[in-house]
Amino acid sequence: MGFFITFEGIEGCGKTTQIRRVAEWLSADGYEVVVTREPGGCPIADAIRAILLDARNSSMVPLAELLLYAAARAQHVAEVIAPALAAGKVVLCDRFTDSTLTYQGYGRGLDRELIGHLNTLAAGTVKPDLTVILDCPVELGLSRAMTRINGTTAAREERFEQESRLFHERIHDGFLALAAVEPDRFVLVDGSRGIEETGAAIREMLTRRLPRR
Ligand code: TMP
Repeated sequence: MGFFITFEGIEGCGKTTQIRRVAEWLSADGYEVVVTREPGGCPIADAIRAILLDARNSSMVPLAELLLYAAARAQHVAEVIAPALAAGKVVLCDRFTDSTLTYQGYGRGLDRELIGHLNTLAAGTVKPDLTVILDCPVELGLSRAMTRINGTTAAREERFEQESRLFHERIHDGFLALAAVEPDRFVLVDGSRGIEETGAAIREMLTRRLPRR
């Protein structure tokens, strides 16, 4: 079996940049690496992502949102993650089930037990071996995310960035709460530092935790 690493954190915590760097050095070290993300990661889930993150869909009710995340995940796990793990690859995934617990549970206030059931339904036996939380203050994360949005001409995916500051505080606290319950799976990395410093900390930690090839 392969090794499944998920990266989590609030908006603007720097996950996407760090995942790219991890993939580069792991590949150079001879690992077979698959980089993917949620929501998305395959055509059907990418189509669901476009619906979920479209700022015009502000009237979407929380339950519809939750079910769409679950639907996207079921497809993504079956089509991308499970086959890659079965082939012995290292899978790096930008967000996974913990984002549903924090955003839809801590953020939207949906029942976390129900979310847990849906997560299991969608992911089946696939569970992260390791989850890296890039932790940074909400204010810093949101200001980085706004800089990114204002500087892009790509399709705007800003529905979650438009939520209130308190919503993001609840998500931040939710990630810390999840990490406290499962200290063996979660690793907290300070993401408020520069790209190089954060990258070095992640590399040092992963070098210790990854199985030998
Ligand atoms: P990203 O901006 O990191 O690509 O993530 C997309 C957005 O989707 C982000 O605001 C968090 C949100 N999200 C959820 O609300 N629930 C989920 O289960 C996942 C995977 C993402």
